[in-house]
Amino acid sequence: MNTAQVDFYKKDILIVDNTPANLRVLSTMLTEQGYKVRKALNGEMALTACQALVPDVILLDIMMPEMDGYEVCQHLKADERTRKVPIIFISALDEALDKVKAFCAGGSDYITKPFQIEEVLVRVQNQLTIQSLHSKLIEQNEALKDINQNLENIVEEKTKQLIEQERAALLGRLTQGIVHNIKNPLQTILLSNDLINSQATTINEEEILELSKYIKIATLQIQKIMDNLLINNRRSQNLDLKLLNVNDIVQNEIQLLMSNLDFKHKIQKKYFYDNKIPSISLIYTHITQVFHNLINNAIDAMWNMSEKEVTIVTRQDETSIYIDVKDTGCGIAPDNISNLFDPFYTSKPAKGEEKEAGEPAGTGLGLYISRELLKIFRGEIAVTSEVGKGSVFTIILPKVAERKMG
Ligand SMILES: Nc1ncnc2c1ncn2[C@@H]1O[C@H](COP(=O)(O)OP(=O)(O)OP(=O)(O)O)[C@@H](O)[C@H]1O
Ligand SMILES: [Mg+2]
Repeated sequence: MNTAQVDFYKKDILIVDNTPANLRVLSTMLTEQGYKVRKALNGEMALTACQALVPDVILLDIMMPEMDGYEVCQHLKADERTRKVPIIFISALDEALDKVKAFCAGGSDYITKPFQIEEVLVRVQNQLTIQSLHSKLIEQNEALKDINQNLENIVEEKTKQLIEQERAALLGRLTQGIVHNIKNPLQTILLSNDLINSQATTINEEEILELSKYIKIATLQIQKIMDNLLINNRRSQNLDLKLLNVNDIVQNEIQLLMSNLDFKHKIQKKYFYDNKIPSISLIYTHITQVFHNLINNAIDAMWNMSEKEVTIVTRQDETSIYIDVKDTGCGIAPDNISNLFDPFYTSKPAKGEEKEAGEPAGTGLGLYISRELLKIFRGEIAVTSEVGKGSVFTIILPKVAERKMG
C-alpha cells in the first residue's frame, strides 16, 4: 500500500444515482478499494446525507426525477458546510454543452456512462489528491501568516529599540552641545564681572563700558542658545522656519562679531555678496550658530599667523546657496580632514590649559554640532585646506523647498 492509498483510506464517498444497479456497482468497487461508501437514491436523500455528515467526494448522477444533478449541486454549493466538497458528475449525456453546464454548476469533474471502473477510481483519487493538496496549502498559508506575524513583531520591536537608542544618543549630543555652547559666554560674563568688581586692578570707565558690552553680548549668546533649544524641541511644528536671506544673516552676524576686538582690529576682512540670492526657509538661530562656529574657527586658526585675513563670500548655483568662510590660518593636514566633524575632535587645548598667551582653546564640538544643525535643512559643510596657507569652509544650503523636519 503506497502513501497515496493510505491517504485515501476510509475517505467518505457519497454516491447519488436513481438506478440501484449503478449504485451497487459503484459502491462495491469503491468499498473494495477501501473507501467508506454511502448511497442516495435521489437528490433529497443526498442533501440529507450531506447534512448528517459531509462526505469527501460526491459522485452525482445528472438525470434523476424530481431534483436533477444540477439542482442538487446548486444546493450543495449554496451551503457553506458543503460548498467545498468535490462533485463528480456521472451521466449518460455526452454532449459538450452538458459538460459545460455541469462545470458551471460547480462540478469538479465529469464521467460519461458507461464508465470504466478504473476511470472512476482515478477520477475519485484525483479529487481527493486535489483536496488534500488544497488543505495542505491552506495549512502552509496559515503557518506562513504566523511566521510573517512573528517577523513583523520582531521588526517592530527592533525598530522601537533603535528609535529608543537614537533618542538617547540625541539627548546625549544635545547635552554636550548645551554645555559646550554655554560655557564660553558664561566664562566671559564671569571674567568681565570679576574685572569690574576687582579691587586690585584699576580700570577706567571706558573699560567698564566695554566689559559690560561683553557681558551683554555673552548674555545674548546664552539667550540665543536657549531659543535654539526651544526651537529644537518644537522643530516638528515648522513654526520657526522662516524665509531668510543668507546675506542678511551674514551681515548681522559680522556686526555682532565686531564686539570681538581681535576680529575688529587685527583681522583683515573681505566680503563678496551675491545680492541676487533668493531667500530660503531656514531657522535663524541654527544658521547663525553654524556661521559663528566657522568664523570662530577661522579666527582661532590665524591666532599666531602673521597674515590674518578672513574672506566671506555668498554665492549660488541652480540648486544651492553657498557661504564660504576663507581664512589665512594654519590649514589642516589632509589626514585630519576626515576627523574634523567627529565629536570632541580638536587640535586645541582645553580651556585653562593653553600653553601660550592668546592660544585659543576648544572642545571639538563646534563642527560636529554645525553639521547636525545643517542636516535639518539638508545642508552640508565642505572643506578645502592647505597646510600653512589657510582653509575654506563652505556652508551649502539646497534651494529646494523639501526640508527634513522633526
Ligand atoms: N578654519 C580652520 N583652520 C584650521 N583648522 C580648523 C579650522 N576649523 C576647524 N579646524 C580644526 O578642526 C578642529 C575641530 O573644530 P571644531 O570647531 O569642531 O572644534 P574646536 O574649534 O576645536 O572646538 P570648539 O569649536 O568646540 O570650541 C579644530 O580643533 C581644528 O583643528
Ligand atoms: Mg570650533
